[in-house]
Amino acid sequence: MKNRWSWILRNFLEFYTLTLPVGPVLVPSKPAAIYPRKGATGFSASSTAEEATQGLDGTGLTAIVTGASSGIGTETARVLGLRGVHVVMGVRNLTAGRGVKETIVRQNPNAKIDAMELDLSSMASVRKFAADFKSSGLPLNILM
Ligand SMILES: *[C@@H]1O[C@H](CO)[C@@H](O)[C@H](O)[C@H]1NC(C)=O
Repeated sequence: MKNRWSWILRNFLEFYTLTLPVGPVLVPSKPAAIYPRKGATGFSASSTAEEATQGLDGTGLTAIVTGASSGIGTETARVLGLRGVHVVMGVRNLTAGRGVKETIVRQNPNAKIDAMELDLSSMASVRKFAADFKSSGLPLNILM
């Protein structure tokens, strides 16, 4: 217990004390200890999807990526497409999803990307998506 606390103190609670006009302010002196540069996988919170999938060949795999019409979902779809994975984007807004698909395919004409309507807040939508996906005959290797 004593060791654990001293480890926590060493790694998380080292601060500089800055004296600002408002008074003394504690500033972490080792932010890298709170967000380690690399974990056991060799990657960290600042690693990109491209770095994490470098050298991987996803040809023949199919992934369903939910929420792919924005943010991290879009980036996930783009990078899986870059690695040869057939990506089925489950999107609430099919117009937005098709736009994302066009953008990805413009950058990488080999990308296999489909956009299908999916609203995870609606069980009917989930069932319809699942039925449509099953009838496509594609395998499901990755679900995100
Ligand atoms: C769907 O996406 C399109 C294109 O991004 C946008 O113009 C439209 O407002 C969106 N519709 C809804 C209901 O959010």
